[in-house]
Amino acid sequence: MALRLFAPRTEHFQRLSGWARLSWRSYRGGPAAEKLGGAYAVDLRSDVLTKPTTAMKEAMMEATMGDDVFGEDVTINKLQSTVAEMFNKEAALFVPSGTMGNLISVLSHCHSRGLEVLLGHQSHLIIYEQGGMATVGGVHPRTIPNLSDGTFDLEVVKDYIRPLDDSHQPFTGLICVENTHNVCGGTVLPLDFLAELRKIADDHKLPVHMDGARMMNSAAALDVAPSVILENVDSVSMCFSKGLGAPVGSIISGSAEFIARAVRLRKVLGGGMRQPGMLAAAALFTLDGLIPRLQTDHRHARMIAEAVMKESSGLVHVDLERVQTNIVMIEMLKEGLDAQQFCDRLSQVTMEEEKEIGEPIVVLSYPSTKRVTRLVAHSSVDTKDILAAIAKITYVLHELANQEAESKASHG
Ligand SMILES: Cc1ncc(COP(=O)(O)O)c(C=O)c1O
Repeated sequence: MALRLFAPRTEHFQRLSGWARLSWRSYRGGPAAEKLGGAYAVDLRSDVLTKPTTAMKEAMMEATMGDDVFGEDVTINKLQSTVAEMFNKEAALFVPSGTMGNLISVLSHCHSRGLEVLLGHQSHLIIYEQGGMATVGGVHPRTIPNLSDGTFDLEVVKDYIRPLDDSHQPFTGLICVENTHNVCGGTVLPLDFLAELRKIADDHKLPVHMDGARMMNSAAALDVAPSVILENVDSVSMCFSKGLGAPVGSIISGSAEFIARAVRLRKVLGGGMRQPGMLAAAALFTLDGLIPRLQTDHRHARMIAEAVMKESSGLVHVDLERVQTNIVMIEMLKEGLDAQQFCDRLSQVTMEEEKEIGEPIVVLSYPSTKRVTRLVAHSSVDTKDILAAIAKITYVLHELANQEAESKASHG
């Protein structure tokens, strides 16, 4: 097979970091996917890859700024009050990242050492945040098995809450949920799950924190206001730098007391910023027309998922029920095919393929686990790009099916 390699396997991630520098010009339209080594490249590794649009950069240039550690940055203050109102919480605080937002939130709730936090075993907080709550805050995480939709069995939650009269055990200090749930494939936590969890938390006088890095995707999927999703949690951390499209920044929101502690924690963690108004301007810019934009991303993810299932030949699988927002998880079923190999193949172009499709197309995807490839729709890819990605994926699935048929024929 004549291969034009766009990403040799051994250098895969080195090459990817270079590719991430591709410049996208607008939310929609414009060359949302650019030529890469002569190929049409559609980068679906993550929704963190969006680049600021010209209009967003203009809004940033015009931002009024002041010292935010002194509380004098007008644009930051506007962002915080806008978000607090939108979330129907008392206050909000801009922070540099989702990881810092979650850490500050956990420590603001658990302000005495040795408290235990209950959280899902598939949560970003436990897998991807270096155990910051323990290493930095002296807070002890305890995982609850996540169900495949990102929820927990609520009876298990009740069992895991520690008794108050046993000196051997830590006290439970907080319950965390994630919405949408990244590792579970962008699933949306049902509102009745959050309401039931609230009752349990209230029975035990416990706060609930939501890692809502992609909470706006939940609002878009359910077509409800963010405040509806947040009515049963005490605090949330939400990212502007994921599907929303800003270059930097997250926000946490909750009671005035929670945010007052958070301001101190952000400072000790080195997150006090001097004139961050430009970043707040970008964040405010994302809120304009956001929900329809996210709904378009969700439609794009569904187009990919349905196309994969139509052509899967039993070699890969997408659980369509779990494609609720902008993430598609493709499970590898074919013997001997792992997620890295599938990603590699999507990033290569053969002569035969170029002839059949009519142009060389590269799709960048992410091996979420050994068996699962993740594709994420976001605002820097438009419908044309998604159709190009589907043409590529379909071709690769046919190729795998042909290889499978040939291998069966030669063995049988
Ligand atoms: C669910 C979730 N929470 C938190 C984060 C951390 O955000 P950041 O990369 O801004 O630290 C991420 C990042 O992908 C995420 O997916």
